[in-house]
Order: sequence, then C-alpha cells, then structure tokens
Amino acid sequence: MAIRKLRISDIEALHRLFAEVSAEGEFLLRAEAPPIEQMRALLLRALPLDLPQFIAEVKDELVGSIEIFPASFCGLEDSSGEEFGVLGMQVMKAHRGQGLGRQLMAAALEHCSRLGMNRVELAVLKSNRPAIRLYERFAFRWVEDLPPCTLPSGRPDQPQKMRLLLG
Ligand SMILES: CC(C)(COP(=O)(O)OP(=O)(O)OC[C@H]1O[C@@H](n2cnc3c(N)ncnc32)[C@H](O)[C@@H]1OP(=O)(O)O)[C@@H](O)C(=O)NCCC(=O)NCCS
Repeated sequence: MAIRKLRISDIEALHRLFAEVSAEGEFLLRAEAPPIEQMRALLLRALPLDLPQFIAEVKDELVGSIEIFPASFCGLEDSSGEEFGVLGMQVMKAHRGQGLGRQLMAAALEHCSRLGMNRVELAVLKSNRPAIRLYERFAFRWVEDLPPCTLPSGRPDQPQKMRLLLG
C-alpha cells in the first residue's frame, strides 16, 4: 500500500473511483461522477498549485483519494473573507475500514500545514458514521446542520458542516 501525490496520469482511475462511490448512492449528493473531461480540466488547473491531493494505491490500483481545494478555487468563499480548504475523500468499498482513510487524511493535513492553510471544512451526511468518526478523530468539529437532502438512493438525510482549525 502506498499514499502518494495525485498525478495527471491517474485521471482515468480517479474517475472510476468517483463513479463507483457515486453509484453507491449513499454518501454523496450526486449519483454519477462528474464528466471525465471536467475532472481532467480541474486537475490540470490544480496540479501546478501543489494542493493537498493524494491517492492510496494497493497493488498498483488506485483505491482511494483525498483532495483539499482552497475555497476560492471552488468559488466557495464565505462571509469571513478568509481562505480555507474544502475537503473531499473516497475509498473503494472493498478497501474501507483498513486505515486508508486515516492515512490519506494524515498526508493531506500535513500538506495543508506546510501550505499555511489554517482552516479546513467539509460537508458530511449524519448517516455516514465511518466518515464522521474519521473526521472527529482528526479533531474536526460540527459547525452547523445544512439543509436536509434526498440521496440518489431516495433516502432522506441531513448533511452537516464540520471544521478543523489547524494550529
Ligand atoms: C469515509 C471513508 C473515506 C473512510 O475511509 P476508510 O479507509 O474506510 O477509513 P479508515 O479505515 O481509516 O477508518 C477510519 C475510521 O472509521 C472507522 N470505521 C471504518 N469503517 C467503519 C464502519 N463501517 N462503521 C463505523 N466506523 C467505521 C474506523 O474504525 C476508523 O476509526 P478508528 O480509527 O477510530 O477505529 C470511506 O468510508 C468512504 O470512502 N466512504 C464512502 C465515501 C464517503 O463517505 N466519503 C466522505 C464523504 S463526506
């Protein structure tokens, strides 16, 4: 198993990972991955910025990823006017619960500190206990509940915002 920075040559495998996790219909609001060309364009814009984007590989297969984009990069600035990171992560179903999420998170947060990013935020569904447990373990804290939503599976759920302040 290896954790390493994302490369442009990972784009097909990354798209497959997003497609598989989206298709589960349980964790994300979208039912499908974004189009691969849209993901490639985003990646080409992000890679020169050396952002915290890491992947987990098992036997040369990409099985997990994490990305922390500056809010301004995603057009998600808030009223504070301060820059902050917006986190997303996913691990293939067959590889969950084996510590990959923890290792991806550790690598990404270490990179954030090096970049001088002092706040990271994310949205997670209250039903997603493994994800919330992982975030709490890294000292992310609940900030507020977001508007209720209906998942692609048809199940209603409640997203919440969580925040980590980096020292
Ligand atoms: C959230 C996710 C990335 C975590 O990745 P992972 O590789 O399974 O995480 P880890 O194996 O490092 O486990 C992290 C913590 O979750 C706990 N955990 C793992 N599977 C669990 C489960 N089924 N139920 C409860 N807790 C669980 C682990 O025990 C661990 O906590 P601990 O270290 O205190 O024991 C992964 O579950 C996933 O991809 N889920 C689908 C996509 C998703 O939810 N993305 C986040 C959207 S906000």
